[in-house]
Amino acid sequence: MSDILDQVVPHEDDNRYPFRMPYGWFQVAWSSELEPGAVVPRFYFGRHLVLWRDDDGEAHLNDAFCPHLGGHFGYGGKVVQRCQLQCPFHGWEFDAEGTNTRIPYSERTNTKARVRSYPVREIGDHMIVAWYHPHDEPPLFELDIPDEATSDEYSEWSTVHFAVDAASQELAENSVDGPHFRYVHNTEVVPEIESYETDGHVARMRSIQKFPTPRGVVDGRIDVDNQGPGFGITRFSGIVDTFLIGAAVPVDQNRCEVRFNFRTKKLGDAATTSTVGEAFVREVAKQFEEDRPIWENKAHLRRPALADTDPPFMKFRKWYSQFYADAVDGEHDVWAPVPPDVEFQPEFIPAEATASRKYRTTE
Ligand code: FES
Ligand SMILES: [Fe+2]
Repeated sequence: MSDILDQVVPHEDDNRYPFRMPYGWFQVAWSSELEPGAVVPRFYFGRHLVLWRDDDGEAHLNDAFCPHLGGHFGYGGKVVQRCQLQCPFHGWEFDAEGTNTRIPYSERTNTKARVRSYPVREIGDHMIVAWYHPHDEPPLFELDIPDEATSDEYSEWSTVHFAVDAASQELAENSVDGPHFRYVHNTEVVPEIESYETDGHVARMRSIQKFPTPRGVVDGRIDVDNQGPGFGITRFSGIVDTFLIGAAVPVDQNRCEVRFNFRTKKLGDAATTSTVGEAFVREVAKQFEEDRPIWENKAHLRRPALADTDPPFMKFRKWYSQFYADAVDGEHDVWAPVPPDVEFQPEFIPAEATASRKYRTTE
């Protein structure tokens, strides 16, 4: 048996979806949130976590609870001796791998007292990503970081952060969903998918998008490269070249957070680049909010009724399903959201008032 405590928190609504937590690389913070010596709480993957940066500048992610008596490192924990995490409760110290390195009131350490650690990578001094696997497997793939993430030809990063009451698979399914643009986003034209290819942990979608502008319709492209469930690169071209890393992270098996990280190709002067970039981010954020009520209230249908001209939804789902390490529950065809709370105050409406409430078709 492992010495590492299983610190997963059971969720009340276990069965919102027929799938569990996916594995992959997931953004857990922006680099700027974590100064050297910072120790902060996080809750992802259904687990209480602690994210911290040692005095050498390395970021680390560990389970939150100290194996001594359960202190949460993220509330009052400190970085000591450059690279050790100290529990706020009785001062025990742990290294980034989660090994107990010091008990301040004992000559010995406790070799059984171990804290789970998660592999961490930092991208372009901007994003902190961590590898999560439900069975603590080491990384099964590495992220391929595109040049745009570090190139000088692109603006500084613009970002936006969302919390959504839906599993990240449901959001990701939008990456192939051209037809919803007309109805959810009211766009006159829908992206036309040229190809959708999957290859191991990578999925590539190529599409053409016509952008209406005051000077007529401009041909553009939206190309998406997903690397696992938590890291999607979208390149928008046509009006302005924009590079986006969309990073979804499961909060638990029913909810997720999404961080968008944009860089715009520099155009002439910095002010124009930032104006165009900001307008773009605002539009994408607006579309996200238009999608939200669909995601949060939709059922997950295991056997959707599809049109012959629908995009490759099932190919997408097959690709995504490889990231679930645990067997998928196959009992039901329809997985519905938790019913809303029924809560209202009694209200007495006298007869004369109800008369005035009748629907009238003519005056
Ligand atoms: S609970 Fe962490 S040192 Fe006691
Ligand atoms: Fe959408």
